[in-house]
Amino acid sequence: MYKSTNLDLFPYPFHNIKEGSNYRYSNDLRKLEKDQTSCIHITPEYEKQIKRKRELLNEQPEVRFQSYPHTMEMQWEVAEMLINMAVESYPEHFQVEKNGNHWTFHNLTLNETESFIFGDTSSIEFEPLDLIGRHFTTDFVLMVHRDDNLYLEVAQESYAALFSPHWNKGMSFDEIHAPVPFVSRTDVPLAERVRNFLLSNVLPGEPWTRINWNLMANRWDVNYETFDTWGPTRFLVTPENAGKLVRLRVEEQFFYRMPRSNAILFVLNTQFLPMEDLELRPVWLEQTYSILSGIPKPMADYKGFTPFIEPTVEYLKNLVEKVKLQTN
Ligand code: HEM
Repeated sequence: MYKSTNLDLFPYPFHNIKEGSNYRYSNDLRKLEKDQTSCIHITPEYEKQIKRKRELLNEQPEVRFQSYPHTMEMQWEVAEMLINMAVESYPEHFQVEKNGNHWTFHNLTLNETESFIFGDTSSIEFEPLDLIGRHFTTDFVLMVHRDDNLYLEVAQESYAALFSPHWNKGMSFDEIHAPVPFVSRTDVPLAERVRNFLLSNVLPGEPWTRINWNLMANRWDVNYETFDTWGPTRFLVTPENAGKLVRLRVEEQFFYRMPRSNAILFVLNTQFLPMEDLELRPVWLEQTYSILSGIPKPMADYKGFTPFIEPTVEYLKNLVEKVKLQTN
């Protein structure tokens, strides 16, 4: 397991929630600032994360990467965008040479080189997004725009929460979100409102972002295919061990409209923070304690943490008290 060690880079999920307020589902999308549109981030955990991501892809390739054969051109478009972003954001880590269609991509941190003919899938070992995705710590999902909806047609996922390319391939935005216990405050269901918002506001050159979060008990990813493994570990948590076993699992999500295919690329940067590390930021600790104390049962059931929410809240209560005693 890795954890975020540079807390300045950790996408703390509750920044925009007012002190004393609860967390509820909402359309919390935010447009990215013009100078911060890249989804490529290098953290101190980069090498650890890439190593584990590739192990997971190799262990269960059909669960973690899926695509339709007609998506190759779209995948090349995404690969091109990611390579350009990487080289621009981190020239000290990534370089590319383009001689016509003959491209050579260098990952200097891992000391690896990928040489291929751009657009020619027979020149590479994996499909384009599967190949380039292995150089970045994020997960990638390509949602194709058709009939006023978005359909999952390509995905590379290693850190999934209740998600896998194998499970979700071909599903529409609405089908994917059907299990989420959204509460609608208007006549239009939240999934439909969010989908319409995405379709009209995520435009070429105007990416958006939001943060999703969960709690995980001693586990990196939870998908439906491995429920038998991670399901029972949720019952091992106690107020004594929750600090180490339970992690705040945060997904920083990015949404890009691809100019050529018109698909939406969904990128997920997943980071983990053990409960005990909240002590390093007392404001986060108090707010997380307050929010977790007020999570509605249907949300806890859906997120899968009902079996360990009580001992976790108990642990946080004790930690808040300990920190208060130390600062008084
Ligand atoms: C187009 C890209 C998107 C994809 C592919 C996607 C995919 C998913 C998936 C696979 C799940 C888990 C569903 C399950 O339980 O089986 C999920 C949950 C969820 N999605 Fe999305 N999503 C997208 C965009 C959005 C947007 C824009 C929002 C904005 C509000 C959103 C809000 C949520 C929420 C609140 C949940 C519940 C997560 C939790 O409580 O842990 N999604 N999404």
